Amino acid sequence: MKIAVLGGTGSLGKGLVLRLAGLGYDVIVGSRDVKKAEAKAEEYGKILGVNVRGLDNKKAAMECDIAIITIPWKHAFDTAKELKDELAKKIVVSPIVPMEKTENGFVYVNLPEGSAAERLASILPDSTIVSAYHNIPAKKFADLNAEFEWDVAVCGDDAESKRIVMEITNKIRGLRALDAGCLRNSRIVESLTPLLINIAVNNNMKDLGIRFV
Ligand SMILES: NC(=O)c1ccc[n+]([C@@H]2O[C@H](COP(=O)([O-])OP(=O)(O)OC[C@H]3O[C@@H](n4cnc5c(N)ncnc54)[C@H](OP(=O)(O)O)[C@@H]3O)[C@@H](O)[C@H]2O)c1
Repeated sequence: MKIAVLGGTGSLGKGLVLRLAGLGYDVIVGSRDVKKAEAKAEEYGKILGVNVRGLDNKKAAMECDIAIITIPWKHAFDTAKELKDELAKKIVVSPIVPMEKTENGFVYVNLPEGSAAERLASILPDSTIVSAYHNIPAKKFADLNAEFEWDVAVCGDDAESKRIVMEITNKIRGLRALDAGCLRNSRIVESLTPLLINIAVNNNMKDLGIRFV
């Protein structure tokens, strides 16, 4: 299975690429800049001792079976619009969290569609959107020596696509995928991320994830 991590040169992308390529998936690092994609792919490949490819986002989207969009929310939707045809008939995973920093801390940004995942679904009507990975602290996730036990709440309207994303997620050591229902529930999962960051900042904690017990 070919998995493209679009914007895979960034913080969350690094962890996902390392973990998924480390499991043997054919992972493509996507970037706006092919040279940057190639350099990051080489860097990640060296860490793992496996071959990781880097392509521009368009080619990565074209080649893959599953695309994960690891791009900040203010830019992710424009990228999705540009890649609408390439992403058609594919699973598109959204870890996107619309949030902003205010003088009172981090807040979730309510989008008219209800969530980033639902906005993505409206932009990509021919793709199947699954939302996941919102509550993972990227830096710790990208550290292959780090120990963690985090839950990944997965939302989606297509049962088979959700099952595939959960199956992949459950292979990553330290993650447990949980079916969190339909895509509409993504707004709840997305909004937990600014909550986690506020709790971390205000209570001198680090790298908070979620765990349902
Ligand atoms: N960081 C976290 O802990 C975390 C946790 C959970 C979920 N998330 C979500 O995951 C997504 C990525 O977060 P991140 O922290 O990994 O982001 P990031 O490191 O700030 O950026 C990721 C990549 O986005 C691309 N990008 C930046 N500006 C762009 C633009 N104008 N158009 C297209 N691509 C652009 C860049 O790739 P190129 O320059 O190579 O194109 C960059 O490397 C976000 O939606 C965030 O809400 C993040």
